[in-house]
Amino acid sequence: MRPVEIKEGVFWLGAVDWNRRDFHGYSKAHKGTTYNNFLIVDEKVTLIDTVAEEFWGTLQCNIAQVLGDRKIDYVVANHLEPDHAGCLAKVVEKYQPEKIFTSPMGQKAMKAHFKYEDWPVEVTPTGTELSIGKRTLSFLETRMLHWPDSMLTYCPEEKIAFTNDAFGQNWATSERWADQVDRYRLEELMANYYANIVLPYSPVVIKTLATIKEMGLELDIICPDHGLLFRGDDCAWAIEKYQQYAEQKPKNKAVIVYDTMWHSTEKMAEAVASGLADEGVSVRLMCMKNNHHSDVMAEVFDAAAVIVGSPTHNNGILPLMADMLTYMKGLRPQNKIGSAVGSFGWSGECVKVLTQWLEDLNMEIVEPVKNQYVPDHEVLNKCYEQGKAIAAAIKAKL
Ligand code: FEO
Repeated sequence: MRPVEIKEGVFWLGAVDWNRRDFHGYSKAHKGTTYNNFLIVDEKVTLIDTVAEEFWGTLQCNIAQVLGDRKIDYVVANHLEPDHAGCLAKVVEKYQPEKIFTSPMGQKAMKAHFKYEDWPVEVTPTGTELSIGKRTLSFLETRMLHWPDSMLTYCPEEKIAFTNDAFGQNWATSERWADQVDRYRLEELMANYYANIVLPYSPVVIKTLATIKEMGLELDIICPDHGLLFRGDDCAWAIEKYQQYAEQKPKNKAVIVYDTMWHSTEKMAEAVASGLADEGVSVRLMCMKNNHHSDVMAEVFDAAAVIVGSPTHNNGILPLMADMLTYMKGLRPQNKIGSAVGSFGWSGECVKVLTQWLEDLNMEIVEPVKNQYVPDHEVLNKCYEQGKAIAAAIKAKL
């Protein structure tokens, strides 16, 4: 895709990764992604972020289309993860900028990643202002949104915030603006990105949004480094969405995530789903054999209850459930009700192990159900009642 002038003298460069499905080795990007970066043509030509290394050719081509033979004076590195700093070393070598601006933690990460000797790095703690000619850039550290080095760059003259990972979505498109695409799909992909990338840092999101409000930052454009950009009223829409995501207010929804050996645990999970549905709770039944952990997490994100199921296997639980629970624990979802089901043949540790995981996630526990061998009508009825009890707990919570 060719560069797009998003305001006079400010360009989206970026690379559209249509074929990306594995995102950072742990999450699915079913619709591909983009690596957005930006070029401001002023007295000091300033490049904000780069792209993943495999798009170095695209980046050079885009820079040449905007600048011709003019040089890049400044580089701003908002975040050092390789999807944004993957071409940084090549940019420094080829364009030889006068200065590279980054956060205090960015400098440490840059040193560790690139082991540079003589790069002209200048640290820009929160509050630093930099004149690039007609325009100013100011910097706000957003530690852990998404890495310790992350920062936001704001241009008051243009009312543009370059927010790096924040407000991103994994979506490869030919459109550049959020108002040009289907809103429901945009919202789904934005929430999916939040659930899998940003969720553990929700307290930082709340703090950052409060700081933006206190500083009275006016916003005409929000430029995340993945997916569509927001302009006009969509800036307030995106901020409102992030506020909601960070608060993690649950919906009248339950996710039953399970694995099964000989379908006994599966039958129990289905009975729990019936009890929940009959009480008016929206239910997602997700078997780990057919769902990636990041897709499950996208559903868990706004659910009020998470029910986990596994038979006993080698005195523990099935490996796909251990994978799911490890992933979920790292993302630290809040405000959830938890419960468990599981079948067993002889030792029967499954439900105890599952419940421990839920307790570790600070979930409010509803009595689990376990069963030896194949569940009969009585056991399935117990699971149905378990579903109703979880529904009652959801009702009390909402
Ligand atoms: Fe899109 Fe944390 O990198």
